[in-house]
Formats: sequence, C-alpha cells, structure tokens
Amino acid sequence: MEVTQVLLNAQSIDGSVRKHAEDSLKQFQEQDLPLFLISLSQELSNDEKPVESRKLAGLILKNALDAKEQHRKLELVQRWLSLDSAVKNQIKTCLLQTLSSPAPDARSTASQVIAKIAGIELPHKQWPELIGSLLSTIHQLPPHVKQATLETLGYLCEEVSPDVIDQDQVNKVLTAVVQGMNASVGNNDVRLAATRALYNALGFAQVNFSNDMERDYIMRVVCEATLSPEVKIRQAAFECLVSISSSYYEKLVPYIQDIFNITAKAVREDEEAVALQAIEFWSSICDEEIDILEEYGADLVGDSSIPCFYFIKQALPALVPMLLETLLKQEEDQDQDEGAWNIAMAGGTCLGLVARTVGDDIVPLVMPFIEENITKPDWRQREAATYAFGSILEGPSADKLTPIVNVALSFMLTALTNDPSNHVKDTTAWTLGRIFEFLHGSTMDAPIITPANCQQIITVLLQSMKDVPNVAEKACGALYFLAQGYEDVSPSSPLTPFSQEIVQSLLTVTHREDAGESRLRTAAYETLNEIVRCSTDETASMVLQLVPVIMMELHNTLEGQKLSLDEREKQGELQGLLCGCLQVIIQKLGSSETTKYLFLQYADQIMGLFLRVFACRSATVHEEAMLAIGALAYATGSDFAKYMPEFYKYLEMGLQNFEEYQVCAVTVGVVGDICRALEDKILPYCDGIMSQLLKDLSSNQLHRSVKPAIFSCFGDIALAIGESFEKYLMYAMPMLQSAAELSAQTSGADDEMIEYTNTLRNGILEAYSGIFQGFKNSPKTQLLVPYAPHILKFLDSIYLERDMDDLVMKTAIGVLGDLADTLGSNAGSLILDSVSSREFLNECLSSDDHLIKESAEWAKQQKLSSSSLVWVLGLHVLSRCHFQTTEAVVVELSLTLAFIANIFTNNCIGTMELGSDFVEEE
Ligand SMILES: *[C@@H]1O[C@H](CO)[C@@H](O)[C@H](O)[C@H]1NC(C)=O
Ligand SMILES: *[C@@H]1O[C@H](CO)[C@@H](O)[C@H](O)[C@H]1NC(C)=O
Ligand SMILES: *[C@@H]1O[C@H](CO)[C@@H](O)[C@H](O)[C@H]1NC(C)=O
Ligand SMILES: *[C@@H]1O[C@H](CO)[C@@H](O)[C@H](O)[C@H]1NC(C)=O
Repeated sequence: MEVTQVLLNAQSIDGSVRKHAEDSLKQFQEQDLPLFLISLSQELSNDEKPVESRKLAGLILKNALDAKEQHRKLELVQRWLSLDSAVKNQIKTCLLQTLSSPAPDARSTASQVIAKIAGIELPHKQWPELIGSLLSTIHQLPPHVKQATLETLGYLCEEVSPDVIDQDQVNKVLTAVVQGMNASVGNNDVRLAATRALYNALGFAQVNFSNDMERDYIMRVVCEATLSPEVKIRQAAFECLVSISSSYYEKLVPYIQDIFNITAKAVREDEEAVALQAIEFWSSICDEEIDILEEYGADLVGDSSIPCFYFIKQALPALVPMLLETLLKQEEDQDQDEGAWNIAMAGGTCLGLVARTVGDDIVPLVMPFIEENITKPDWRQREAATYAFGSILEGPSADKLTPIVNVALSFMLTALTNDPSNHVKDTTAWTLGRIFEFLHGSTMDAPIITPANCQQIITVLLQSMKDVPNVAEKACGALYFLAQGYEDVSPSSPLTPFSQEIVQSLLTVTHREDAGESRLRTAAYETLNEIVRCSTDETASMVLQLVPVIMMELHNTLEGQKLSLDEREKQGELQGLLCGCLQVIIQKLGSSETTKYLFLQYADQIMGLFLRVFACRSATVHEEAMLAIGALAYATGSDFAKYMPEFYKYLEMGLQNFEEYQVCAVTVGVVGDICRALEDKILPYCDGIMSQLLKDLSSNQLHRSVKPAIFSCFGDIALAIGESFEKYLMYAMPMLQSAAELSAQTSGADDEMIEYTNTLRNGILEAYSGIFQGFKNSPKTQLLVPYAPHILKFLDSIYLERDMDDLVMKTAIGVLGDLADTLGSNAGSLILDSVSSREFLNECLSSDDHLIKESAEWAKQQKLSSSSLVWVLGLHVLSRCHFQTTEAVVVELSLTLAFIANIFTNNCIGTMELGSDFVEEE
C-alpha cells in the first residue's frame, strides 16, 4: 500500500475516496500497529513527500498518543508504553530528524508529537536523553532548526509537569529559552518560538523567580520582548506578563512601575491583539488582589499566604484614565455580534475589576468622565460614559453610590427611551440592570426604587422590550434583577400592581419574529421564571393563570408537521424553555398547600404533555422535561405512582444515556425526587432502576460527574424501600467500598480533583446514610454489620483529615449517627474496633484541648469501658472539626453524640453534660 497516496486521499474532497482511504488507514492500524506508526513517522520525516501527507501523518501519530477523553487517553498511553522499544526508537529518530526539515509545517507537527511522547515517557523515566540532545547543539543550529527546537521545548513544558524534570535540566531549558528571546541574536521566528516557549516554561521557573538576579534577568528579557518590532512577539511577551502576574504576583514589586509604562503604551498605541493582553495584565492583577483581600476579610488573623501589595490602589490615578480611554474605542456594530470582544469591552471589564478591588476610591476618578461625556453629541462618548458608570457599580459601598444613582436613574430612563443610538440604549439598559442587581436589594432602608419612580421604571423597561433585539434583551435582564430584589418582601411587593402587565409583555416578547436574535427569547423566559420565582402570595393567582398559557404553548410545539432538521432543533430549544418555565411554576405553586391544591388539577394534563415531549424524540429524552417531571413528582407526592407505568420507559432511557451525561445525571436526580414522592410505591420499578444504575457504574464510558449522583440515589432508593433494599446490598456495597477507597487517595490532586473527590465522598456518604436509615427498626439490621468496619474506617479517614470540606464533614458525622442509631448495641464494639484505641487514647491524653484530655482521663478511670471510649471518640471528632465548624456541623455532631450516648445510656449521663457544655461554647 502506498501510504502517501492513502494519506492524500484521506483529505480528498470526494467523500467516497476519503471514506475508502480512511478505512484503509484504520485497517492498517488494526493489522500492524508498530508498522503503521513507523510508516507515519517515516512519511513525516521524508522531505521528498508532499507537505499535506506529511502533516496528516503527524496528526494521526499525535492522535495515537493522546485523547481528550480520560479513559481513551490512558489506553493510548498504555498502548505506547507497551510497544517494542526498537519500534519506539525508530519513530523517535524520525521525529527528531524532522526538526531540521525545511518544511515549517512538518517541523511544527513533529514538535508536537515529540512533546506528546515526552509527556508519556518522562514520568516513567524513559527517554532521559531527550532534553539533553535537544539542547546540546542549540547554539550552533541554523535558525529554522533552532526555532523548531525551541518550539519543541515549549510544547514539552506544556505536556510534562515540573516535578518530572530535574532542576539541572530545568535550568538549561530556561537558559536556552531566555537566550533565544535575546533581540540581538537569531531571527524573529526564533524569538517568537522562544517567547511562546517561555510562556509554557514559566511554571518551571519557581527557583529562578526566587533569586533576585535571575528574576531581574528574565523580567528584563520579557519586558524587552514587549517592545519588539514584530507584533506576534509583543503579543506573546505580554501573554508571559499576564501569566507572571498570577503565578508570581508577590515578586512584582520592583517591576510594576516599568510594567505600567509598558502596558499603558501598548493599550494606547499598539495593535488590538497586543493591547488586549496589556489590559488583561491589569485584570489579572485585580483578580489576584481581590482574592487576597477576600482572604484578609474572611480570616481576621490576616495570615494570608501572600501579602497584598495594593498595586491597583497605587496605580489608580494613572490606571483609571487609561482604561476610560479604551471605552471610547467601540466598534460600530459590536452589539449585534454575540461573543464579540474588543478593547472597549476589555477596558470596561478591567474597570469593573478595579472597582471591586479598590471600592469607593474609584468613584471620584470616574465621575468627571461620566458627567462630562454622558451628554455629548457623539454616541461614542455617551456610550463610554454610561459603560463606565455601569462598570463601577459593583465594589463601592451603597452609601457612596446611592446618591449618585438617585440622580442618574431618571437620566438613564430618559436615555433608554429617547437616545437615538442603539449602542447607548443597549448599554443604558445593561447599566440599569447592574443598578438593580447591586444596589436595590441592599438598600432597603433608603430605597432607590420608590412608589414614585417604580411606575416610570416599569413603563420604560416594558417599552424597551419592543426595541431592537439587543436592547430588548438587556431590558429583560434589568427586569430580572428588579424582580429579584423584591424576592423576600412579603406580603406585598411594589411590583404587584404591574405583574399582569409585565407577564403579558414578556410573553409578547417570546412571540416576536426576531426573538431568536441576541438570545432575546431565552432572556424573556429567564425573566418570566424569575418573576414567578420571586412572586408573593398576592400574585399567586397570576402564576396559576400562567399554567394553562404555558401548557398551550408547549402543546403548540407538538402539533407541527414533519420538521426539517433545523426546525427540529428550534422546536427542541423552545420545548426546553417551556419545560423550564413549567418547572419553576410547579416549584412555586407546589411550595404552599393552598396553591398546590389549586395547581394539582392540571397535573394529569401537564404530565401528558411531558410524555408527548419525550415521545416526539426518538433516541434521547429531553433534559428540561425530565427536570420538570422531578418538580411535578415533588408536588404530587405519592399520587405520582399513576404516571409511572407510562413514564418508566423514558426514565430508563435517560439512565441508559451515558453518552449525553447531563441527561443521565438529570435523570438520576429525578429518580431521587420520585423516591421521595412515592416512598415504597417505587418498589416495583427498583429492579429495573438499580440494574441500570449498576450498569452505568460499571461502564468505563460513564462521565465521572454522574457517579456521585448515582451513589446518593442508592441512598434515596434505600430510604424509600427500607429493608427491601436487602437484595441490592451485595451489589451496591462493594461499589461503594471501592469508590470510598479510591476517594481516600488524594495526594497530588489539583483543586478540581479535590472538589470532585469531595462530591464523590458526599455521594458515598449519602448512600450509607440512606441505607442505615432505611434499615432502622428492621429485624434485618444484622445484614449491615459486616459492612460496618469498612464504613467506620472510611469515616475515620475523613474525621482525621485536616481542612476537610464542611459538607463532607457534616455528612460523615451524620453517617456515624445513623450507624449508631440503626445498629444499636452492635455499634459500640464496632466503633471501638475501628480505631486503635490505645493509640487513640494516648493522643487524647496529650491533647491541648482540656476537654478532650479530661474526658480521656475519665475514660481511663472507667477502665476503658467501651462506652467511655466511644464517648471520648465523639468528643475527639468534635475537636477535630472544631476549628472549621459551622453551626450545621455542630448540630449534626450533637445529634450523633446523642445517638451514640443512647447506646450506652447508663454510662454516659455524666459526660452528656460535658458534651453539651462544649457544644454551647461553640
Ligand atoms: C544578547 O546577546 C548579546 C550578544 O550575544 C549579548 O551581548 C547581550 O548581553 C544579550 N542580552 C541579554 C539580555 O542577555
Ligand atoms: C535559572 O537558575 C539556574 C540555577 O540558579 C541558572 O543556572 C540559570 O541560568 C537560571 N536561568 C535563568 C534564565 O535565569
Ligand atoms: C514611566 O513613565 C513616566 C511618564 O512617562 C516617567 O516619568 C517615569 O519615569 C517612567 N517610569 C519608569 C520606571 O520608567
Ligand atoms: C470626555 O471624553 C473625552 C474623549 O472623547 C476625553 O478627552 C475627556 O477627558 C473626557 N472628559 C473627562 C472629564 O474625563
């Protein structure tokens, strides 16, 4: 087979030629993987071959080494590692050779493939000579090879984690990269590759950044590169500065003045791509300082690991005018172009972050700009002034802003009605939304919205909802926050007199021909939902009247003739919005007994509509309809049983759909809702549901985010069916156990992984809790005893971990209580066996906490009777979480202690008081 021709055919515009070529490649790969990979690497390295076939060869090689999906990725890594080393060497040699090819595309592809292989092999201590051989001759290389080598080093730093490479090699890489950036050697391509490589290598530069001289040197080189005549180099250099600002914030003191000068020049004079990065630098500094100051605020001790240097506060007098200038650089049609990003938007975003960082101090610096320019004839000036005002509304205190807003409000309302420019109206409506979002909820004692201006505000907003789509969308947004601000005012909201009119206007918006533009229809439904969610008893009848209206709308989407693909997609979207709206309505009406009773007359019809929504799609169930059904189950309670025979097949379909994992996750959640609604009436469906859930868990294609939900669903099912859960124990328990073991290994995990682990732990704990509670008072509690030691060990590992997530801690303490409550007299010895009591007692005896120490001494006096030890354990747990305790944890803990105490009533009376004192002190 001629590899070159097949690779070219695989890019043919003729579908059948392409298909045939793809099949041949696939076949080749399946028949002889080593030869396949070697052929591809030979193709890539061969300068005689056409560049298209070489590029594709490289791309296929790269895809043979890495994949987005975690499981697939691990498979590919294993596959590569298990290849014969002679094969791998042959491939690597070809790749390294390609770095000197005259064809830039081939070099670049080879760089990426080398980095992928390095990403696999270096952590396994394979290919140790790679970095050395890349660096050995770098000074003598012709520019194009040097460029490719630097690019390879850059990708390599992206693929490999810093701890895999020893410091000596890191130093050499950094030195080569920084030298490559030197403006007096090499050419632009080399310098660009070096600057981009530095961006990836910054994570490796910890040691160098803590040494003044080396840091000065790196910073000088980066700052020089921001002045390069080549725009791409300037952009890459600013990207380095942005990355430095977050990774090495605390090292910036000596450079910040220079950086300000450099960024100010770039923002004012440079091309957009560069100016955007220069603004991004200051946004990133704001992010850092907001985080640090938040930590200062939360922790009165003030021992944030990084001090705040107040760069923003110091730069303020120069920074604010610079940002205000950017606001005048709007584009003609930026409002129409969704997802547009330009200097003016970046500047406004940065201004907003500055306001959040410094608070009140920004106000006097921005006000003159607003006052002078908001009335100018040029729309750009009016828009910039309005945008500036809207941007600084989050951060400064209500005291500072309220007087200004009181003056501005009627001006804004007039502008929204009369300004000839759509840009200005768009930004004005957005600014009104920000006023309502940040000020009207928090200023109830000196309200900015009064009976006097409420009427005018509503009139203007409803009028603007008839304006062009982008303005109407912002007006909906403003109304959304207006409603939200009245969420907790009862019994009467100032919006009540207008609610009919508001709802009517929103429905009219949803029917606009152009409601598909600027996400107007979605915004109108979101606002309608918020109006419903925040409605009071006074407007309950309005919400009730909405039920048949929205039902009719949903009904209409089901009546269509045969739809084209495009129409089907639109239909699905609209059904999603309508089901979402019904969900909010059902939740609202279901939350009070009176309205629930009135609502239930519609339940059969609504359920009928939801079933039709499911039926009009063949393979997949509708996520929003599923969620709405969850709400309906909650409202109908055990009456939901009558819908189960027909609904069950869609439930099953949802649970089977682990490719669209959100659908699966949502369905799992709805199973929980239905369990709570039906209680033991769900029993006939449990075999089917459980076997599907277990199947999901054993599939290696299940998205990991669904797992925790499935575990807590086990808990819901057990709680609903009680001891009938018996037959599932032998399947569910081992799964829970192995997940628990997995969740204990957290070393080296990043934030995202830790967050996931905590969600997983919580799911597991909720399962245990449901199972124990379900078996309570059952003659079969003995069945749980064999599982208890492992569960206790899991709990203990959670109690012992410092800084354990609050929610996990609370649930874990609750599970101990459930265990004690359900297992009764069996629990004591189990609990004791789970901790090595001697060691544990010694730890308590030497505790700094006098209560722990005292109770441990008491336990010793009691000759370490089980009861006394259990009690100490309880207090010990209490002390563990005592520095991270929230009220919820304490309450959970008291309950648990009470359950434990219950087991040993006679022995514990004396210490019960001790315990409750302690809780009170908290
Ligand atoms: C750049 O290279 C030149 C010539 O090799 C050298 O004199 C100069 O010190 C270098 N600049 C930096 C910043 O290292
Ligand atoms: C980084 O630090 C090492 C060790 O101190 C030094 O050899 C190397 O030259 C430094 N590199 C740069 C770019 O400063
Ligand atoms: C920054 O620019 C200002 C004004 O152009 C100048 O006075 C100042 O010396 C510059 N600062 C630094 C550190 O270059
Ligand atoms: C108003 O905008 C203009 C630019 O159009 C600017 O030059 C002027 O300084 C602004 N006014 C104030 C007081 O900032």
